[in-house]
Amino acid sequence: MSFRGVFIAVFLGTALLVAAFMINRQRPRSDVSYPSDALVRATGKCAECHRRETSAVVHEFEMSRHSAAGVNCLECHRPVEGQKPMDHRGFTISKTVTAANCKQCHQTEYDQYLRSRHAAPSWAAVSGKGDFTAEQVAFAEQYHKGAVDRKPMSIGEREGPVAVNAGCLKCHDVGRPNADGSIGSCTACHARHAASVELARTPETCGQCHMGPDHSQIEIYHESKHGVLFNAQKVHMNLAARPKNLTTKDMPVPTCATCHMSGLEGQKVSHDVTERLSYWLFAAHSEKRPTYQQGQVNMKETCLKCHTTGRIDQFYKDAEAVVDSTNAQVKQADDIMKGLREAKLLTPEPFDEPIEYLYFDLWHYFGRTAKHGAFMGGADFVQWHGFYEMNLKLVELKKQAEELRTAHGDKSKAEGAGGVKQTSNTSR
Ligand code: HEC
Ligand code: HEC
Ligand code: HEC
Ligand code: HEC
Ligand code: HEC
Ligand code: HEC
Ligand code: HEC
Ligand code: HEC
Repeated sequence: MSFRGVFIAVFLGTALLVAAFMINRQRPRSDVSYPSDALVRATGKCAECHRRETSAVVHEFEMSRHSAAGVNCLECHRPVEGQKPMDHRGFTISKTVTAANCKQCHQTEYDQYLRSRHAAPSWAAVSGKGDFTAEQVAFAEQYHKGAVDRKPMSIGEREGPVAVNAGCLKCHDVGRPNADGSIGSCTACHARHAASVELARTPETCGQCHMGPDHSQIEIYHESKHGVLFNAQKVHMNLAARPKNLTTKDMPVPTCATCHMSGLEGQKVSHDVTERLSYWLFAAHSEKRPTYQQGQVNMKETCLKCHTTGRIDQFYKDAEAVVDSTNAQVKQADDIMKGLREAKLLTPEPFDEPIEYLYFDLWHYFGRTAKHGAFMGGADFVQWHGFYEMNLKLVELKKQAEELRTAHGDKSKAEGAGGVKQTSNTSR
């Protein structure tokens, strides 16, 4: 080959390479930035085709840190142990993607989550222990005694499987048992393809499930100073800050995640939402958890990144007084119901008589609301949606109890009927 020939060959070769490079650059990042040839082929094809078939999936994925870090479609979608393989356009993918797929790369988060009440306890609250293996039950019971080895809550049985499947379990499946032996879904807070911490730190994400009269956390939050300030200032915040470097500059106002999970200013991030709690507030009668001391230390550590000690100690003292006072109201209702059962004026079955619903509303709606309001800064929820309603329900309960006794010819009046005993609880 002449000198000229070599020159042209080199020139053309380079031009082709540059052209190929430039065409390649036009391709979406998700098509090109993968570690091995096989993966480039696989995921390029997934994205290429799915951009036509289910385009939102690809757009969501491209916004994610996964895409930026070179994690690809197949790394989540290929079957792991225990999952059914499915032939799909020449690739082998799994029919389902569960926590088992995520934990290949996020074992720490999975282990923390597994210890929390978001895991097995949340499913067992609705469905009992039947769907878990003996090992899974034993594991959860170490951390939450009686929370998995239990019967389903009876209101679900009364309402029937349609309500349970389309209602209860749509929230409680945050801890569902998966056929592959893992528990739960990480996507309840992160979404499938966005895999976002920004989303997880947004109050509405938790509010998908933490809402309504029986656990009005999102409503309370929006009414609290924290919620009001967050909504006003969120555009100036950096909700996407890396968890290990989250500062009060990124988020000067807390959301649900900040108080219950985040590693603010060097604190430990945790997927165990139970770690910072000290009471079982959801219970009819709220007692201290065995981890009471440590739970308060952990939560106060978060508050103290932004507040002073005296103010936070006083806040806890006031909130604990609300727990005591609510317990006292619920105890009065308990005694009335116990009296009726002993006098055989109620059937042994739950939820077949109006007074049982009245009693349930008293603690499950209004008692809980008062306690949650006190701990999360919702004055209106402590009082008008809490104590006021509890008082009203107690008056109604006493009246109905009296009527039941009269109807059954029981001369001994319903205990204490006619007025609501005042529980005195001054905290200051
Ligand atoms: C040539 C086109 C094409 C390719 C390549 C392709 N898919 Fe699909 N995929 C589809 C179509 C079409 C559907 C069905 C859409 C529907 O049901 O509306 C689908 C469905 C799916 C589903 C849902 C399956 C179900 O049963 O619910 C997943 C998950 C999926 N694809 C992932 C992938 C992954 C991961 C890859 C790459 C490893 C990939 N796809 C490659 C076209 C493709
Ligand atoms: C971080 C892990 C992850 C990555 C990466 C990922 N997916 Fe998914 N994908 C999921 C999960 C989780 C689901 C829900 C599966 C289930 O319900 O069992 C899902 C569901 C889907 C579905 C069904 C959507 C529907 O609503 O019917 C399609 C299609 C899909 N993925 C395609 C893709 C494609 C294409 C890519 C790459 C561009 C991709 N996925 C990357 C985790 C991932
Ligand atoms: C193949 C490994 C792999 C799999 C599988 C995987 N991830 Fe990731 N994930 C990563 C990597 C790598 C990062 C980026 C870490 C970094 O940039 O520091 C990441 C980051 C994240 C982040 C942080 C995002 C942010 O904005 O900071 C979340 C949340 C996350 N993954 C959730 C999930 C979920 C949920 C699943 C399962 C549906 C999953 N991951 C599956 C490797 C994986
Ligand atoms: C998919 C529904 C769902 C989402 C989303 C959700 N949770 Fe939960 N959460 C539950 C259920 C159900 C329980 C009750 C579990 C039990 O005790 O049976 C629960 C319980 C809790 C508890 C109490 C744990 C205990 O030990 O008593 C805390 C705290 C909590 N969640 C915080 C959060 C935060 C913070 C977020 C958002 C970052 C969030 N949750 C998102 C469903 C959800
Ligand atoms: C809107 C979402 C949602 C629905 C629907 C829902 N729950 Fe819950 N449930 C929660 C959340 C969130 C908590 C946590 C409350 C707390 O800790 O303050 C909870 C707590 C509980 C608890 C107390 C915690 C425990 O482990 O004992 C039980 C029991 C329970 N739910 C059963 C049910 C049953 C049964 C149904 C249907 C009849 C149902 N839930 C419907 C979200 C929901
Ligand atoms: C109750 C909601 C919720 C669930 C369920 C959940 N996460 Fe998270 N996750 C969060 C929040 C909130 C953060 C960010 C914490 C913070 O503010 O620093 C986070 C952060 C992460 C990160 C980034 C951690 C880091 O240090 O960079 C990963 C990875 C992650 N989650 C994976 C998972 C996996 C895997 C699962 C399922 C086993 C899961 N998450 C389930 C709420 C959740
Ligand atoms: C300023 C911090 C803060 C914020 C913001 C916050 N919480 Fe809380 N939360 C608390 C404290 C404190 C408690 C009571 C802890 C205890 O038991 O000692 C609590 C209790 C709870 C409980 C009750 C658990 C039980 O025992 O029944 C749930 C569930 C919960 N929070 C969820 C949420 C959700 C969801 C949001 C956002 C909508 C939220 N929290 C916002 C501090 C906060
Ligand atoms: C990330 C910072 C941050 C964290 C964490 C935080 N707060 Fe706040 N808090 C604020 C800000 C900002 C305000 C608004 C102060 C103002 O009015 O300027 C506020 C206001 C309040 C208020 C109403 C004003 C007052 O002082 O009476 C209470 C009560 C409160 N916080 C309690 C708590 C408790 C309890 C915790 C922990 C469970 C907590 N906060 C965690 C930032 C935080």
